[in-house]
Amino acid sequence: MEKITKRILSGVQPSGDLHLGNYLGAIKNFVSLQKEFECFFCVVDLHAITVWQDPKILKQKTREVAAAFIASGIDPDKNTLFVQSQVPQHAQLAWIFNCVARMGWLNRMTQFKDKAGKNSENVSVGLFSYPTLMAADILIYLATHVPVGEDQKQHLELTRDIAQKFNNDFNTDIFPIPEPLILGEATRVMSLRDGLKKMSKSDPSDYSRIMLSDSEEEIIKKIKKAKTDPMPLPDNLEDAKNRPEAINLLTIYAALNDQEIGTVISEYGGKEFSQFKNDLGELASSKLSPISVEMNKLLQDEKYLDSVIIKGKERAINIADPVLNKIYQIIGLFRG
Ligand code: ADP
Ligand code: TRP
Repeated sequence: MEKITKRILSGVQPSGDLHLGNYLGAIKNFVSLQKEFECFFCVVDLHAITVWQDPKILKQKTREVAAAFIASGIDPDKNTLFVQSQVPQHAQLAWIFNCVARMGWLNRMTQFKDKAGKNSENVSVGLFSYPTLMAADILIYLATHVPVGEDQKQHLELTRDIAQKFNNDFNTDIFPIPEPLILGEATRVMSLRDGLKKMSKSDPSDYSRIMLSDSEEEIIKKIKKAKTDPMPLPDNLEDAKNRPEAINLLTIYAALNDQEIGTVISEYGGKEFSQFKNDLGELASSKLSPISVEMNKLLQDEKYLDSVIIKGKERAINIADPVLNKIYQIIGLFRG
């Protein structure tokens, strides 16, 4: 097989409404990377069902993520945009990786510990083996690079370990050792209510996150209400690092405006939060509301959206199937 050097795969779960963390940590970077890489962007519905999903809305959430990709600027003609469960090779390779990865490796995964909490005897087996499916998503395309937010770094390290162990065990070099691409200023966007907690779909407070579907008014209101400390904005990075809410808002500003955080600090350092929040609210709504308008337009054209997803499935299978065949041969599985 020819060596691939610049292929990306990344995935986003259709498990709830997309928020600013998903946008700045992942989707915004996908948009810039599509120029330089061959890209596969996947709505990972099989990952979503590791926790309960309402069957009545899962399909719609899946379309919403696909619409968010396109509305954010991913070109569905140039890239392969598809739904994970439509390409069975992911789950087939995941089983093989369940037999490669070690219990001890998975036991160390912090996302599992966070999500299972005290309930670890009662969560699904899928939630535990989630990272082997993620490794399969990536390696079934022999992807070399994976753009993700900071929270996925550990899963990427596990993917690299699986690729390495498979290559060693079977004396092959089929799998590349994929590189994480953790890019931009906002690799870990924090909650607007608590600068020490990650912005997440599962936070019970709506005011903790900005959704891609929020109206301009909602965005402005949420930023106005964002928690801050009583001092003026910090005027240097060292001080900012000790003020979680301040550095979070400064980081969001920098990422949305394609600036470095230092530049934003030199503009706003020493000023009051009220002025900064006004400007940030305007910046965020001017960048995000065109995306939500476009998303809504796309969601009304189900026929178009579904045709994109079907075309993506065909392209994805065309790459994934020969790779799976090769893997079956390497392992010695019966091919008839
Ligand atoms: P989540 O349930 O964490 O939102 P997703 O599968 O939807 O999970 O995440 C999709 C992408 O968004 C991943 O690359 C993840 O790293 C990124 N991401 C999620 N939350 C954040 C955050 N708060 N800050 C930066 N990136 C994030
Ligand atoms: N685990 C990722 C998350 O929770 C989503 C994901 C699934 C993913 N498969 C992937 C990300 C493959 C990158 C590559 O955010």
